[in-house]
Amino acid sequence: MDTRELYRRFAAREARGNSADYERLAGRIADDAELVSRIDHLPEPKRQPNLLLAAVRFLDGPTDDPQDFRTWTLAHWDRVRATMMQRRTQTNEPARCATLLPLLAALPQPIALIEVGASAGLCLYPDRYQYRYDDRPPLGPADSPVSLACQTAGPVPFPERLPTVAWRAGIDLNPLDVRDEEDVHWLECLIWPEQTHRLNRLRNAVRVAQAEPAHLVRGDLNQSVRELVSRVPQGATPVVFHSAVLAYLPAEAREAFTRTMRSLPGHWISNEAPYVLPSVEGKIPRPTPQDRAVFALALDEQPVAFTGPHGQSVEWFN
Ligand SMILES: C[S@@+](CC[C@H](N)C(=O)[O-])C[C@H]1O[C@@H](n2cnc3c(N)ncnc32)[C@H](O)[C@@H]1O
Repeated sequence: MDTRELYRRFAAREARGNSADYERLAGRIADDAELVSRIDHLPEPKRQPNLLLAAVRFLDGPTDDPQDFRTWTLAHWDRVRATMMQRRTQTNEPARCATLLPLLAALPQPIALIEVGASAGLCLYPDRYQYRYDDRPPLGPADSPVSLACQTAGPVPFPERLPTVAWRAGIDLNPLDVRDEEDVHWLECLIWPEQTHRLNRLRNAVRVAQAEPAHLVRGDLNQSVRELVSRVPQGATPVVFHSAVLAYLPAEAREAFTRTMRSLPGHWISNEAPYVLPSVEGKIPRPTPQDRAVFALALDEQPVAFTGPHGQSVEWFN
């Protein structure tokens, strides 16, 4: 897509209603021939608005005033460009655990978690967070620094207790390290400026992960998942899961992953935009909402719910 159009669409469809700063900036970038020309010299996957805006914030550039943003970004373009080339959009949202939890808790325990596309692995701690589904009593450790609120609809099989996690591991093309200050700062910059509740949640989840770092492997999920499943400790149920990952893969790679998952022992939980896995999408028992973004949550390719992409809601199917 043409860069101007990319930024205009980002402003109108993604930032509007979520970040006034990003909506304003992306709109101005789209109309700025000099900035557009610099962005056009980047490889196509590196032109994303999210990546540019996070890179400027990572380098402490201004993102509140569009004129200051322009002046600063052009003056520091070499550093901005280097950051965009080195880093990726890897937003890690631990709140997604609230939508995965009903499935994780219903499987034979203990479970061994393998997250593909794990980023920093913050979704690998479903047993360390507290959950508040609607007005129900909180579930999980009262002293957890992370408390996840989730609105529900439909017959959600609310768990009575948290899953027992015997082992946790992840795969990512570029795993981020919760013990590395720059990696954590990058994760912070991927959260849009006004979303301070998400920033606090991220920082608290990082503390949880720092206390108990997961085993994260660098690699492509198709290359690495089989080997990791083979290392699951005896007696634990292998559970491979992912959210907001497969959309980054071409269709052939998604098909290859589907074939691999069908051949592996244990269970497969997917939480992705519905179109991403046709074998799931074809079984969804109701039309996909068009007025809001949703993910389809599925267990072994059987859809069970629509979920809010940031873990904020779950609509269980009858
Ligand atoms: C948007 S993040 C989501 C992170 C996490 N799953 C969550 O829900 O918070 C997508 C992650 O998938 C990783 N990723 C994309 N393609 C991948 C691949 N082929 N193999 C492994 N990881 C991949 C990216 O590096 C990134 O960290």
